[in-house]
Amino acid sequence: MTVPSIDLSAAAVETQAVHAGERAGIGHATPTVNAIHLSTAFSYPDTAELDDVFSDPRKGYVYSRHGSPNVQALEEAIATLERGGGAVAYGSGMAAINAAITHAAGPGDTVLASRDIYGAVYATLTTHFRKYGVQTEFVDIRDLDAVRAQAERLNPAAILVESVSNPLLRVADIAAVAGIAHDAGALLIVDNTFATPIVSRPLDLGADLVVHSTTKFISGHGDVTGGMIVTSAERTPVIREENRIAGAIPSPFDSWLSLRGVKTMPLRMREHCRNASAVASWLADDPRVAAVNYPGLNGPLPDGQFHDGLRGAMLSFDIAGAGREQVFAFLDNLSLIQSATTLGDVYTLALYPAISSHRGYTPEQRHEIGIGDGLVRLSVGIEGIQDILTDLDVALTAATGRTR
Ligand SMILES: Cc1ncc(COP(=O)(O)O)c(C=O)c1O
Repeated sequence: MTVPSIDLSAAAVETQAVHAGERAGIGHATPTVNAIHLSTAFSYPDTAELDDVFSDPRKGYVYSRHGSPNVQALEEAIATLERGGGAVAYGSGMAAINAAITHAAGPGDTVLASRDIYGAVYATLTTHFRKYGVQTEFVDIRDLDAVRAQAERLNPAAILVESVSNPLLRVADIAAVAGIAHDAGALLIVDNTFATPIVSRPLDLGADLVVHSTTKFISGHGDVTGGMIVTSAERTPVIREENRIAGAIPSPFDSWLSLRGVKTMPLRMREHCRNASAVASWLADDPRVAAVNYPGLNGPLPDGQFHDGLRGAMLSFDIAGAGREQVFAFLDNLSLIQSATTLGDVYTLALYPAISSHRGYTPEQRHEIGIGDGLVRLSVGIEGIQDILTDLDVALTAATGRTR
């Protein structure tokens, strides 16, 4: 169990990130950093005590699928940062999203989801959940009148949105969508992966469940796969119980690595955001680029949703007149920036949605959402800004045959 040496609830986010979940005691000593407990099971001096812990998971650990020290430490840290009553960790972001939808909806129910959403989430809704009797309708989440009309018509069990969407960086007005969801008796599930709790905290704005791919900015170094649901103190034990039998848990070592990443997340996010904002402005001024998607660049943002002037580290842009061939040339001529299917690492990463995150869509479906053939997504890292811009410049020249 974590030694509750400091009350972190009122502390600064930087303090919470460094201390939350840490200092799990071992006997009389308290390590400054948690040990990694790989043990599958935990024994007790007598069976009565084991029986007692079995009956109440808050009293200790019995079997690692039910809970284990490093997983619990990470859950505590993310719950603190998202200002939730509790959190449940998963082996991937998709496991967390599947668990959140399973929690909210059953056979005969409908989910109302944002049309602009990560491709694997679209796929699980339209294949897996459809197979088990959960229907999904999609809506442009920026059109609040349409969201309200659909919610009133469908009576959905849940509304599912990304706080900042993948890959078009569209911003959902969380407070407004939460109001619509609750009027319709639906739970609001928000994927906060792109924003992180450093940029936005959807629970404060009325969301019921926040999900994360902790693979991304939370872990931050490209060496972990994980996910998280953060929710109220009342809902957490229910969701934990659901995962006790579903078994989609992360490993202790991955959880330890993620908690290590959490400590620097506030600092990393500030640098990520500063660089991303500079890259967005630089691209917006480049005649070889037709459009740039970055929160706040093309219009106002919902009040109170983005903290401390931070807009996130993700952006996407259309290379003017480009198709697959030019985008391939762009990616193949990057040298500092890595062309890889992930985001949220300390290094800058580029991705072509048409062949990766949204590969499962037909070209017509992609175009309907606004994902053009020349669209490139960037996860801006914490390298020196001039090095990132130089790399982009060289690759854009190679892709378009034109200089800036
Ligand atoms: C916004 C978003 N949510 C969820 C996921 C799924 O996360 P994971 O790959 O950890 O399962 C991703 C993956 O890229 C994502 O971009």
